[in-house]
Amino acid sequence: MNNKKACIFDAYGTLFDVNAACRELSLDVGDKWQDLANLWRLRQLEYTWLRNSMKEYVDFWEITSSALDYAMEVLNIENKKLKKQLLELYLKLEAYPEVKEVLKKLKDKEYKTGILSNGSIKMLDSAVKNAKIENLLDEVISVEECKIYKPSSDVYDLVEKKTDIKKDNVTFFSSNAWDMHAAANYGFKTIWVNRFDGTLERLPGKPSAIVKSLNNIDELI
Ligand code: 2OP
Repeated sequence: MNNKKACIFDAYGTLFDVNAACRELSLDVGDKWQDLANLWRLRQLEYTWLRNSMKEYVDFWEITSSALDYAMEVLNIENKKLKKQLLELYLKLEAYPEVKEVLKKLKDKEYKTGILSNGSIKMLDSAVKNAKIENLLDEVISVEECKIYKPSSDVYDLVEKKTDIKKDNVTFFSSNAWDMHAAANYGFKTIWVNRFDGTLERLPGKPSAIVKSLNNIDELI
């Protein structure tokens, strides 16, 4: 019987700063960069939910690229070089400042640590290496394993499949409220990392705690 406990993290917006790409190129994008970042992220997620319903899976890299195409067209930003640069930056998003320290503390306390993300294996491996946290993560789990996106329960099932740890021994962290609700409803203990001053959705599943960052979350588990 495996009585280990696991801390599993969503990737984009939770460990990695999704707006970093556009912020880094804000001079090139111009004053529309925040609108671009928001519309890009919104369509990226909406396309995952719509493709789930349409049963038309393509990987997150393709979805991220199509969502950027859409957002740039809507905002009349015609610039193939910029599109390539933004996508390349997506492969090396900054990790939030507290991430490395928190993962080290969890490893010292003998938790299994991992990522559970919509990201493709290529995207996640690249972001993890760029953030130099590969030796602090026991598992990096991509939905590529099940070819369906969050919030399908098939995705959350991957945690036990890959770690052999039962759902009631898993604490899941996400900055995306809809992801946190779905994981709580699935049966994980969840902590909402409310980095963007969001509001709880009217959805099933309640967080066991709401925090502004991952600082000191090892004391909450
Ligand atoms: C992730 O799966 C939801 O984008 C978020 O990393």
